[in-house]
Amino acid sequence: MIEIQAEQNKDFKAVRQVNLAAFKRENEANLVERLRLVHNTFSFVAIVAKQVVGHIFFSPVTIEGTDPEHLLILGLAPLAVKSEYQQQGIGSMLVRHGLKECFQSGYRAVVVLGEPSYYQRFGFFCASEKGLKCEYHVPDEVFLVLESENGALQNVKGTVKYHSEFKNV
Ligand SMILES: CC(C)(COP(=O)(O)OP(=O)(O)OC[C@H]1O[C@@H](n2cnc3c(N)ncnc32)[C@H](O)[C@@H]1OP(=O)(O)O)[C@@H](O)C(=O)NCCC(=O)NCCS
Repeated sequence: MIEIQAEQNKDFKAVRQVNLAAFKRENEANLVERLRLVHNTFSFVAIVAKQVVGHIFFSPVTIEGTDPEHLLILGLAPLAVKSEYQQQGIGSMLVRHGLKECFQSGYRAVVVLGEPSYYQRFGFFCASEKGLKCEYHVPDEVFLVLESENGALQNVKGTVKYHSEFKNV
């Protein structure tokens, strides 16, 4: 049985292990530890047989030149599932649960820098269609957005900036 829960302090060590194992480097595990100190973040774990096997994190992004207080947009990153538990729907459960919680908390949209073929299944689409650009030099098609509801991002346009902690990844 797979359970998705809000991350608790007792999960921190296991979450680090999940990120290390999934990305095969320390960058994302370190990023999560630094982002935990940022306000208004969301972190969820996937539990199988009392073990943490997957993890997802959301942190606030801003749009250059816009008042961040009223933006209510989150960036999804990172997402990780231990390799022996991949291809069983756990990543999808983390994404769907996380999005539901973020939108229920009043967030208007979530952006992600990732594989379109993976994230399109959750409704993400090219952020450039909404006039949103990633601050990093990446192809348009890998910077995606999902609105809480149609039109949630009306009149919101510009360059999306991730928290400064992302610069170290
Ligand atoms: C990406 C990841 C979280 C998916 O977790 P998962 O539990 O295997 O995902 P699910 O079982 O819900 O979905 C599996 C589907 O995702 C697809 N998928 C997995 N990784 C993918 C990738 N990098 N690009 C595109 N599709 C991918 C699989 O092909 C499979 O597709 P199908 O449903 O059409 O067969 C996991 O592969 C992982 O931890 N990868 C290493 C870390 C990473 O790249 N994270 C994402 C970037 S932040």
